[in-house]
Amino acid sequence: MCGIVGYIGSKTDIKNALETLKKLEYRGYDSAGVAFVKRGKIQCFKRVGQINNLIETIGKKSAKICICHTRWATHGKATEENAHPIMSYNNNFSVVHNGIIENYKYLKAKIGAEKFSTSTDTEVICNLLEYLKGDTISRVIECESLLEGSYASLIIDKCNKYIYAIKNKSPMYIACGKKGTTIASDISCLNAEYFYNLPDHTVAKINKKEITFYSNGNIIDLPLCKNIHNFESNDLGQYKTYMQKEIAETNKTISNIVELYSSSNNYINENIFKGIKNVILTGCGTAYHACCLGANWIQKNLKIPASAYIASELRYSEPILDDSSLMVLVSQSGETADTLAAGELAKDKGCRIITITNVGYSTLANLADVCLPLCAGAEIAVASTKAYAAMLAVLYLLSHATSGFIKSLQNLKEICQKFNSDNISKDIVKKVINSKRVFFIGRLDDGVTASEGALKLKEIAYIDACGYFAGELKHGTIALIENDVVVIAIITNPNLKQKTLNAVEEVVSRGAEVIIITNDKSITGYTTIFIDTAIDEELNSLLSVYPLQKLACEVSLSLGFNPDKPRNLAKSVTVE
Ligand code: M6R
Repeated sequence: MCGIVGYIGSKTDIKNALETLKKLEYRGYDSAGVAFVKRGKIQCFKRVGQINNLIETIGKKSAKICICHTRWATHGKATEENAHPIMSYNNNFSVVHNGIIENYKYLKAKIGAEKFSTSTDTEVICNLLEYLKGDTISRVIECESLLEGSYASLIIDKCNKYIYAIKNKSPMYIACGKKGTTIASDISCLNAEYFYNLPDHTVAKINKKEITFYSNGNIIDLPLCKNIHNFESNDLGQYKTYMQKEIAETNKTISNIVELYSSSNNYINENIFKGIKNVILTGCGTAYHACCLGANWIQKNLKIPASAYIASELRYSEPILDDSSLMVLVSQSGETADTLAAGELAKDKGCRIITITNVGYSTLANLADVCLPLCAGAEIAVASTKAYAAMLAVLYLLSHATSGFIKSLQNLKEICQKFNSDNISKDIVKKVINSKRVFFIGRLDDGVTASEGALKLKEIAYIDACGYFAGELKHGTIALIENDVVVIAIITNPNLKQKTLNAVEEVVSRGAEVIIITNDKSITGYTTIFIDTAIDEELNSLLSVYPLQKLACEVSLSLGFNPDKPRNLAKSVTVE
């Protein structure tokens, strides 16, 4: 969701900075723009749609300093006017911004609403800079102190000597290279061994040779961090889409996890749960589904009360949190705003915090007492697939922190070769495409997998889908079962097999088409996708979600969509 790249150094093609910005395309955006200074004036170019439109417009233009942005519309429509960079009312400053300025209405009124020409909250930053007095750095420092909300922002003025960065609750990284310095909102696009990770409420004044950091108006030192962001090549290789590639990388991800967590007990050990009386797991979307399974396993294996919360609800629902609570934050990106807000609440309440994330330098990783890596490598497609499997794997290990940890690693290793590599049959894809709506059903863990399967299908194939615990069907939803409805049943729990099959029979007799995902070869007479069985039943959830991810991807492709970039969605949701 929104991306920022700034470059300062020797005169270079602006296209180079835009190529770096392209590495952030996966986050989702609907317009792109760039600003730089030419003959004492700030020039600003913006285009709705793909970055390539902007690259075409920019051609061979060059500059020593430029700031670029991809915008995912929040305040104001996706138009050129609202795209960033945004110019101040006297054209002395230009700003790109990720996040939301929560007090923008108040500041706008203070500056004078007539001076504003866009519908964005961002415009308040550049107009505040114009409105305040003093040299640019004092204006930037004062401006930062007046903003409320979340922001990672780069600023240039007409002097063309510095880029200024401000930051709160939204990431911003600075990497110095031989030829110049690159500033970005996402570490994955910085090709540097060392970088600075800007803390909240810090201002950076950056020129080609040096960077000065300010906190509360005073100059401070910041440590250089080593870039261990060792993402493998982001090339598609033999695959048509990242989603297909990433699903296929699930087994590699699980082996990475086994390797890392076997090699050191710094990550998971019995001390994690010492003195803990309750565990709250929280995340959004797919990560929330991982939390649901994690809560089941922690409660079952560790006998500690555990519950999963949707992160956007958590801070409004007054959960029981104190210094004997453990909060587990689950997030692929480590930047999801709602999960961050939940983590901040937990911190205020004195809870122990674990973050399970794919991005080791993310805001959520920094917030935690312990960070458990997902080892999934870059996940580019918006739909989370291998990272979901990784979340389940790490949560499974966590649920064995106090006993049977070695065995749990062996169990995990054992499933690496068990992911069903068969293609989803054309017949099944057709059934789903021709359906009016799709219901996914299952019991216990399979019920959670049902919700995850439905989310995937909605997200990338735009098919009306819903996940239910099979026992709930009779309490309302069965009224929607008729011809042209598809019901996908997940059955991996032998104890509840017959219960789910009863629900299957009920929907068949009301005209639904049924597809079953199961490891039980005795289930016959239905359209079925058979999966392998894990030694530990809990791990069947990793094996059963795999064909559901592939199914959603195949349906999306067959309908002519791009599963990597579903409409209206961003990879990393950094606003509430
Ligand atoms: O980066 P996060 O794991 O915190 O993201 C949370 C959700 O936005 C994410 O899982 C979303 O639901 C996915 N697009 C689902 O595939």
